[in-house]
Amino acid sequence: MMEASVHAYLVRLIADREAHAKFMNMLSMLEHMGSRKIMVSQMHKQETLTEDTLKHLAEEARHAYFFKRQAERAAGHALDGWTEENTTARVPALMYFGRMDAGISKEVGDDLAYYWVSLIIELRACWLYRIYQEALEASDYQLSLKSLIAEEDGHLEEMFGACGADTQRLRALSTYETELFKNSGPR
Ligand SMILES: [Fe+2]
Ligand SMILES: [Fe+2]
Repeated sequence: MMEASVHAYLVRLIADREAHAKFMNMLSMLEHMGSRKIMVSQMHKQETLTEDTLKHLAEEARHAYFFKRQAERAAGHALDGWTEENTTARVPALMYFGRMDAGISKEVGDDLAYYWVSLIIELRACWLYRIYQEALEASDYQLSLKSLIAEEDGHLEEMFGACGADTQRLRALSTYETELFKNSGPR
């Protein structure tokens, strides 16, 4: 149900160049927040920063750059920063991200927060980007998310390997995130 309505929303969005630009700028903001979140969470930990985590951080930062560049291409001009004017649903997006991060971190504790927050985000990202890619393919707009989706799939696999065995917790946290997403997403 939710998938069909998001698909319909994206099909309409892609047809409206200015709205599409603002949507991609929002994705840029969320990718940047994800990247920043990884950096901050690692700074607070006593653990050694691994190559895998650095790679993850770098890829999310690159996704933020990718969507910013694509947003500006669609807009035909610079979209500096993430403002109310140049970003779709800026406040709901910020609230969604902040609440999810805080709620999951509180539930699993600081040591596991990176893995669980990442896992839940990657599930949503892979889901959304797949629907988005399908909507793009059905449109005449030239944009492919295939390499980005491959990287998100890699993150999902890594995070699933780290904590996905706890299926009971995965179901509970996923349900929690879905409620937040529904309340902040397009209707
Ligand atoms: Fe990403
Ligand atoms: Fe990712």
